[in-house]
Amino acid sequence: MYYVQEIASDIFWVGGTDKRLERFENMFPLPQGVAFNSHLILDEKTALMDTVDAAISAQFLENIEHVLNGRSLDYLVVGHMEPDHCANIEELLRRYPDLKIVGNKKTFQFLEQFYTFSKPDNYLIVKEGDELPLGRRTLRFFMAPFVHWPEVMFSYEVTEKILFSADAFGCFGSLSGNIFADQTDFEGVYLDESRRYYSNIVGKYGPQVQTVLKKLAKLEIEMIVPLHGPIWRENLPYIIDKYQHWSTYQPEKKGVVLVYASMYGNTENVMNLIAGKLAAKGVQDIRMYDVSKTHPSYIIADAWKFSHLVFGSPTYNLGLYHGMQALLHEMASLNLQNRKVALVGNYTWANAAVRDMTEIIESMKKIEFIGEPFEIQSALKAEQLPELDQLVEAIYASLNADSAELVAEGAGTSTKLI
Ligand code: FEO
Repeated sequence: MYYVQEIASDIFWVGGTDKRLERFENMFPLPQGVAFNSHLILDEKTALMDTVDAAISAQFLENIEHVLNGRSLDYLVVGHMEPDHCANIEELLRRYPDLKIVGNKKTFQFLEQFYTFSKPDNYLIVKEGDELPLGRRTLRFFMAPFVHWPEVMFSYEVTEKILFSADAFGCFGSLSGNIFADQTDFEGVYLDESRRYYSNIVGKYGPQVQTVLKKLAKLEIEMIVPLHGPIWRENLPYIIDKYQHWSTYQPEKKGVVLVYASMYGNTENVMNLIAGKLAAKGVQDIRMYDVSKTHPSYIIADAWKFSHLVFGSPTYNLGLYHGMQALLHEMASLNLQNRKVALVGNYTWANAAVRDMTEIIESMKKIEFIGEPFEIQSALKAEQLPELDQLVEAIYASLNADSAELVAEGAGTSTKLI
């Protein structure tokens, strides 16, 4: 049975949620599923804003048929050609042969790469600033390359100042009836998943996110409509402020994340001591992760949030323990930067962990190492405790150092994007 919601006069959410999907892009765990948003605008012309993932096609097509109520579909605007939003293009062309697909040059290049059909007569190629009149409403297009793929394009509905923002401002987690962020306990339910989505999916492209945010800064925006997760119609500066921090790699919070690999508990023991000693000094909200236990996407999300990171790993096969190596490579590849880092290494006969962690982390920008790497040979010995205390003191001093760039969280009142 169809299930739609009217988000503004004659603009209907016709998307759906998938609580069963285990992993996004077959990689990122989805404990609460994910939503695929799509919207249908009824005007003199009808326009659909993106489609959805194949998993929810049946519901989606029923939703569209219900809202169209016998009308034809005139336009399909493709803001993003990743298949989680494009799975239904061919079926829509079958049902509405005169349908015009609206995209940029790259959109159609990707469309023909992914699918076997080619229908150039149905393509309407747009570029930066072009407008598409629908009747009383008009859509204006803004290219947003690499937020998250190169063909990404935002659409701005001029009359009601609605920004269709593709993956930007999106979120893991399905919707449960409440499709507006202000209807939800966003901080309790969605904020962590929003950060995990941003850091792992879009995090690499901070400069490109900044470019598009600056480009759109002149626009008045009343509503932000992403392709995943809740829609923003209130307190927009709150989520924009988060995007400002995330896309400029500024931590949201002063705090420590300890991340370790440990084969027999000896490296873990050192990390526990560091955490306990920091806690004894009054440091709060300390996070600890075992790379063999926690999916890297969660660790990366917290690395995006907090200012100080402590990595601990044993040497393995004359190199770095695989889970730690994979995590650090992923962080470097996502362009994480501007963090304070301390290192803990462990080895029994060949010493490589600190060397390899240093090499990967040094490839990241604006990293400041705290103190000297602390190393144990197989297990911590009592005579090393003073040295460990020195490292803890150095981390604590760094946390307390004046650093204006770490002041975070504080939403303004503007509805401009920057
Ligand atoms: Fe939701 Fe980049 O796809």
